Amino acid sequence: MNKEILTVISNRPLTHDAYELVLDGCSPVKPGSFVELTVDGYFLGRPFGAGDYEDGKLTVFYRVVGEGTKAMTGLKAGDEIKALTGLGNGFRTERAKKPLLIGGGLGIAPLNYLAKYFASAGIRPTVVAGYRSARDVILREELAKIAELSITTDDGTEGYCGNAVSYLKNNSADYDYYYACGPTVMLKYLTEFDVKGEVSLEARMGCGFGACMGCSIMTRSGSKRVCKEGPVFDAAEVIL
Ligand SMILES: Cc1cc2nc3c(=O)[nH]c(=O)nc-3n(C[C@H](O)[C@H](O)[C@H](O)COP(=O)(O)OP(=O)(O)OC[C@H]3O[C@@H](n4cnc5c(N)ncnc54)[C@H](O)[C@@H]3O)c2cc1C
Ligand code: FES
Repeated sequence: MNKEILTVISNRPLTHDAYELVLDGCSPVKPGSFVELTVDGYFLGRPFGAGDYEDGKLTVFYRVVGEGTKAMTGLKAGDEIKALTGLGNGFRTERAKKPLLIGGGLGIAPLNYLAKYFASAGIRPTVVAGYRSARDVILREELAKIAELSITTDDGTEGYCGNAVSYLKNNSADYDYYYACGPTVMLKYLTEFDVKGEVSLEARMGCGFGACMGCSIMTRSGSKRVCKEGPVFDAAEVIL
């Protein structure tokens, strides 16, 4: 864990409620790890998955859901923000030869960085990205360059009509291991798949680094902290 002051390079809307925030001055972070950003005037940091990272530049993709994320939309180039970086364990990238990445909504954010990681290692991953509607789709062009990308929308306004799990049940995908991030209901269905994989979980967080136990969940091997032992867990280990 690193305590850092990051500088805003850019902060722009991608859709009606999702933003891309690019920050400079960040120590290296692994795909699947997360950061806590503390906006001025707020006591607690808000956790966000690393959406991309290169040469000290961290990209976070965030949806505006409450006070903290609303305040983040006001960040401008040159502003500074307090951050805890390098939190959590990250994806076990060595486990897949033919990776399948499954995202639901903003769950695609950490998978974008994971897809880039695989692409840089010479592996073209398969990505299934599920959204509510065409107006919610982010990262379409970026992912299509480096992955076999399928988009699904609940209302059928783009790509497959239905969610990512329904797509996978009705279409064949060539993979030996999966990585998933998204709504709990989506992750729960995936854990019933025969193929092995891992899931990135979310929980309400306090400290973000293992001290308060506020993010504890029950797993098949006992109580675990999402911020410390997670946020990525073996799909077979979690109880959803
Ligand atoms: C490890 C981790 C990684 C995350 N990565 C991302 C990401 O890449 N992009 C992104 O947009 N969001 C991500 N989130 C969720 C993000 O942290 C919350 O949306 C954010 O903290 C909300 O802050 P707020 O002050 O705007 O909302 P609040 O006013 O605190 O809450 C508004 C609503 O959001 C819900 N909420 C708040 N925090 C969480 C949380 N941690 N998990 C689930 N629901 C929450 C509340 O229950 C409430 O319904 C992640 C969460 C975790 C734990
Ligand atoms: S948020 Fe404090 S232990 Fe996880």
